Amino acid sequence: MPVDLAGLRFWASPELTSLHRLSMRSPTGPRDGSPWFRRLDGLWRFRLLDRPQDVVPEVGDAAFDDGTWDEVEVPSCWTMQGYDRPHYTNVQMPFPDAPPSVPDANPTGCYRTRFEVPPSWSGRRVVLHLGAAESAVAVLVNGALAGISKDSHLAAEFDITPFVEFGASDNVLACVVVKWSDGSHLEDQDHWWHGGLTREVFVRSEPPVHLADVKAIGGRSVDLVDGTLELRVTVDGPDGVPEGWRVDAELRTSGGAPVDLLGALGGPVPSARGFGFTGHVVRNRVVVPGAPAWSSETPTLHHLAVSLVDPAGDIVDEATVRVGFRRVEIGGRELRINGRPVLVRGVNRHDFHPDNGRVLTADDLRADVVAIKQWGFNAVRTSHYPNDPRFLDLCDEHGLYVIDEANLETHASMFTLCHDPNYLSAWVERGARMVLRDKNHASVIAWSLGNESGHGANHEAMAAWIRRYDPSRPLHYEGAVMLGLDLGSSVTDVVCPMYPPIERIVAWAEHPVAGDERPLIMCEYSHAMGNSNGCLAEYWAAVESHHGLQGGFIWEWWDHGLRQTLGDGTARFSYGGDWGDVPNDFNFCLDGVVWPDRRPKPALWEHRQLALPVRLRLVDGAVRVENRQDFRGLSWLRLTCDVLVEGAVVESVEVQLPDVEPGGSADLDVSPRGESLLFRVLLAGDESWAPAGFELGFAQLDAAFEREGVARRPVALESGVVGWPAAVVEPPALALWRAPIDNDWIRAGAAGETPADRWRKWGLDRASTKCPPGIEHRQTFHALDGDGILVEEEVVVGDEYGDLARVGSVLVIGAGLEHLEWFGRGPVETYPDRKLGAPVRRWTSTVTDEYVPYVKPQEHGGHEDVRWVRLLDEGGRGVELRFDDRPLHVSVSHFAARDLAEARHDVELVARSEVIVHVDAAHRGLGTASCGPDTLHQYLVGPGTYRWRWSVIPVG
Ligand code: GAL
Ligand code: MG
Repeated sequence: MPVDLAGLRFWASPELTSLHRLSMRSPTGPRDGSPWFRRLDGLWRFRLLDRPQDVVPEVGDAAFDDGTWDEVEVPSCWTMQGYDRPHYTNVQMPFPDAPPSVPDANPTGCYRTRFEVPPSWSGRRVVLHLGAAESAVAVLVNGALAGISKDSHLAAEFDITPFVEFGASDNVLACVVVKWSDGSHLEDQDHWWHGGLTREVFVRSEPPVHLADVKAIGGRSVDLVDGTLELRVTVDGPDGVPEGWRVDAELRTSGGAPVDLLGALGGPVPSARGFGFTGHVVRNRVVVPGAPAWSSETPTLHHLAVSLVDPAGDIVDEATVRVGFRRVEIGGRELRINGRPVLVRGVNRHDFHPDNGRVLTADDLRADVVAIKQWGFNAVRTSHYPNDPRFLDLCDEHGLYVIDEANLETHASMFTLCHDPNYLSAWVERGARMVLRDKNHASVIAWSLGNESGHGANHEAMAAWIRRYDPSRPLHYEGAVMLGLDLGSSVTDVVCPMYPPIERIVAWAEHPVAGDERPLIMCEYSHAMGNSNGCLAEYWAAVESHHGLQGGFIWEWWDHGLRQTLGDGTARFSYGGDWGDVPNDFNFCLDGVVWPDRRPKPALWEHRQLALPVRLRLVDGAVRVENRQDFRGLSWLRLTCDVLVEGAVVESVEVQLPDVEPGGSADLDVSPRGESLLFRVLLAGDESWAPAGFELGFAQLDAAFEREGVARRPVALESGVVGWPAAVVEPPALALWRAPIDNDWIRAGAAGETPADRWRKWGLDRASTKCPPGIEHRQTFHALDGDGILVEEEVVVGDEYGDLARVGSVLVIGAGLEHLEWFGRGPVETYPDRKLGAPVRRWTSTVTDEYVPYVKPQEHGGHEDVRWVRLLDEGGRGVELRFDDRPLHVSVSHFAARDLAEARHDVELVARSEVIVHVDAAHRGLGTASCGPDTLHQYLVGPGTYRWRWSVIPVG
């Protein structure tokens, strides 16, 4: 019978969340290798139509001729396969239609494939699994409508038994995927819009009486000594479950050893029906004496094997679940994991891939988790939807706390849809189905109701459902939070603001709301757009010194730059507008701590440093180590120490690291000497996420600092003429401007003027040729005893210049001086409010390598606390700049600031052959103002008098 999909108009019916979709369950069924599992991923027939109304009723029929259709890979985003286009918007919807309407022009992908249902499957039920379809899908099997589903980030399963032909290899599966649906209004997250079948597709065979779901939640006893396991096994069959069926369950360690339990697992499946019947459910609650606790530091998992046994004693269905025993509680302004108020060092993560949109392989996911661990994070918020389910398996395994978020963001209609009864079912289901899928993951410590969707009755319904189904985890929802007011506690158990200024969270901590037991964990903070993440250290100082503050999640992991090949073959990372996508939000999607290919941005060094499991300090002349972890000793770490003099290593030693308990400290057997001690914190053995020897970070302690090398004496210039070293092609001029970083485009001030706008208006970008009025610059030159020039500079900045980018000098060095050495912070770039991730010592590099590839070019490559810098040619000749009075901020580059400011993409930059050197007496902090607070006051460059002295000395 032909199916009239157009008549159904399922894509514009918010009350229709699904049709014939099976209840969500935990993914415990058979997988690759099992005779009951068939993967359908691969090349499918594909045709993209302009509107869902154009789908012909015969599209799913076996006889329908798809021979002229294209072939595409499933899973994939069709937008990344040459169809339609990716489209980037943040708050605004990509189309003007008000909910629940969608545009008439509505790309609709028709997919067809053929699949075998083996004869051995006959007599059993066949379930189709669609991992994800964006944003609404109708499924046809051999021409019959098997069902409909919405929610672009959760799987849909359908019982297709009645429609398949057993023993046939040409069963036809057709999926009609409609890009814009009523559901799109609930999926207005800040990322690219795509379309397609974006996760795996498979069919599996289940016995008629089968395991419908296994809920297995590991916890800990109140005294935290023992593990606990809540097990709830649901069995189902075509006519209920007759007498005589049984569930067996067995718990083993990950190594396979049986585990002793207090209480029994498994039992007979109730078969009765009618009033008083609680379902075909087997429930157990057992104690696992002395079971090791799961935490991000100690991710120990156990294996639970569940089998369904028929009356004859045969096992007919099986499930395995990995269980971690941990307890999550809220109380006394703490979120406690296993009794400890763990500090959340989190990051927000989207499913993202530069070539595939949001289609990820197991390797992609693993690489993410490994990198997230390596950079010192202990938590992830799956912003803003349930991530690929394999991601949570990896978090269980490697140890990451997860806030699992429902696929619900109505940013453009923030204050309406949450009250709209037409969307009530969608609301509840998006939360409930996430919880049903992910309930067994030890890593999930809280459920998030979504993001930026206001706070309405629909949220209350979702929260109530989740609280009743899973009392073991707290709820998280930013949309209901107002700092300092006890609002929203019905839908959120944590106070989880986004981008609060430091003084606001401190004020919150210092003025508790009576009766509010909730801790504060920032759901988003430290916006990583471009060269950013200033003041991370100050956030952490506040968190560590105030009870009630428990950290937060950096925004965000990925720079969402999609790789795009231009007509001339150039490949670039693209952002909003690059695909002709209108309207768009430009480069606001480039705000991650990793670039689109997962290379780390410099900000990660800062985070890693702040997250180090140990802290080293000088106390009464001794080096003291403090264990800052919650659950682990120090035996997994190794410590080496370099003794530095004039920035060079004069001695290297291995330091004995005592095994201090969490929170404890001990003095090390190492005496301060040289100018500073540079400790490296390394892995003693292999961890699942990094090999032995991997460096977690460092600690640098100043020792008795006797600086060698005396500054050379200035003498009068002969004949008053400055004899610059030959390498200097343009002598030092005044520099007050930088190529604006994204944070410099702050939407602030009554006039809507950003610092970057003001700098232009003031002419700061032209200061080297024309000093802006109200600013005075004096340079005095002296010859140096021996050779070279001493430059004395004074800049007086008038009160009308409230906020400058920098005060310094810029000079140009001739081509060929490519080799770079410096004594200062490195190797990664540092700025006044982001410099802890880089120790002070001697470094070598090249001018070319100093480039930092922000996708939209901007100021980069700065080094704080530089004592000297040398630029040399291959023969070791060149020039040295010395800052003997005080260390300065230096950058060297093949790009002038205006080159960076004018380019829209990194690939447009053309390197100059000469070297542009900036020497700054003051450089503005970075802050995070592209979304959040600006840098702190002490890092601004304002009016006043700046004096600095430096020498330019020929080398060789
Ligand atoms: C938040 C939002 C994120 C992202 C971020 C800015 O408001 O929750 O999804 O848009 O701002 O990058
Ligand atoms: Mg948003």
